[in-house]
Amino acid sequence: MAATAAGRGENRLASGFPIPAKFRLGPQSRITEGQTWPAAEDATRTKQLRIYRYNPDSGENPGIDTYEIDLDRYGPVVLDALIGIKNTIDPTLTFRRSCREGVCGSCAMNIDGSNWLACTRVLEETRDPLTVYPLNNLPVVKDLVPDQTHLLGQHTAIKPWLRTQTPTPPDRERLQSPEDRAKLDGLYECILCFCCTSGCPSGGTETAISALRCTSKPTAGLWTAATRPPVNA
Ligand code: SF4
Ligand code: FES
Repeated sequence: MAATAAGRGENRLASGFPIPAKFRLGPQSRITEGQTWPAAEDATRTKQLRIYRYNPDSGENPGIDTYEIDLDRYGPVVLDALIGIKNTIDPTLTFRRSCREGVCGSCAMNIDGSNWLACTRVLEETRDPLTVYPLNNLPVVKDLVPDQTHLLGQHTAIKPWLRTQTPTPPDRERLQSPEDRAKLDGLYECILCFCCTSGCPSGGTETAISALRCTSKPTAGLWTAATRPPVNA
């Protein structure tokens, strides 16, 4: 039977987060409506964040908690809001972060339906309510923390970094001309956030294959363009 507009609507959570048609979660995985945390009474510029919560130790289903925040009390990016919520509203909210400037890859998560770094996603540019989920297609350790053990293991197996066949000289660097160094631009910048890998359309069923594809591309480029001799390909 063709899906009606109402039928398609039923395939979305109240937050607007899309669920694939005909996709049926087991009863223990169904997402429930969680707790609501209202803004302070004196808040003037409020925004709602609907955040995925899951605690495997509780035995309860995952849920969506709603936090109403006062934008004037937080910094400009989504990570600032998450840190503010953890510090002042709900200390149990769990997520990864480290550098807070887009270079470590720790804070990758699904924001408004797209994978982003929370520390580079500007709050004012997100929807209201804003939805925050863990990265797609990965087991969830807790709340917004995905289990990346498998992906990191694949990465280690591929060894997508430069390897030499001779020991490093003890008394000097391996020099390279600026022109040869410039050939590596665009081939080494990946920070391993896994936004692309977990968002790959084939990731749900073939995560291993998509990870191999993603990490082997820059690897091939590095090995081809690198000129520091001798390089092991
Ligand atoms: S290539 Fe993928 S894993 Fe690397 S930084 Fe970009 S989105 Fe993240
Ligand atoms: S905290 Fe390091 S990339 Fe966001």
